[in-house]
Amino acid sequence: MTQDDMKKAAAKAALEYVTVGSIVGVGTGSTANHFIDCLATIKGRIDGAVASSLETATRLKKHGIEVIDMNMVDVMAVYVDGADEATRYLHLIKGGGGALTREKIAAALSTKFVCIVDESKMVDVLGDFPLPVEVIPMARSYVARHFVKHLGGEPVYRTGFTTDNGNVILDIYGLSIMEPVKLETELNHVTGIVTNGLFARRAPDVLIVSGKNGIQTLT
Ligand code: 5RP
Repeated sequence: MTQDDMKKAAAKAALEYVTVGSIVGVGTGSTANHFIDCLATIKGRIDGAVASSLETATRLKKHGIEVIDMNMVDVMAVYVDGADEATRYLHLIKGGGGALTREKIAAALSTKFVCIVDESKMVDVLGDFPLPVEVIPMARSYVARHFVKHLGGEPVYRTGFTTDNGNVILDIYGLSIMEPVKLETELNHVTGIVTNGLFARRAPDVLIVSGKNGIQTLT
């Protein structure tokens, strides 16, 4: 079983959380793309989808799934998305694909946040995967210096990449994140940072981990 097969299996397992007549929030990335393909098989039973990125919106539309503006939605019954790293405490690093801000808004709007990963994403401590931080372009150097002086880690500018919101990404290498909720809260207060890739304050309600031995569901 390849890693991609495991991603597909996790995506398929998430379909169980989709309820008839609901609006479904959809994340970004290769695992989320598999979920979109699964969602297409039941598209007649949902009212539409909210996309966490332009890329996701395009894929949903290609499948003939109606994409609803996030501002038109009070609440989403379920939001399904992948992650770059996850712990058994259901804390995540996200934003490898650069869609972290819209993903965090979608997670906040959702009643049930279902995260789908293959087993390679499971870690004991977050931080081997560089933490993505979306930054207002003119604050890039200030925020990078702030990390070096006060928070640690090595900020690396993601060259040639602009987010759907017109901002830039700093990837912070070398962190060992022992207290994800605390760090997420601290980063929420740094001027110039739009969003950090820690999903710990609004963690998923369900983590579906797909491995060689099958599916494990953590809550
Ligand atoms: C995008 C994300 C993705 O969920 C994360 O990068 C995982 O991607 P993939 O499913 O391709 O491994 O946060 O911003």
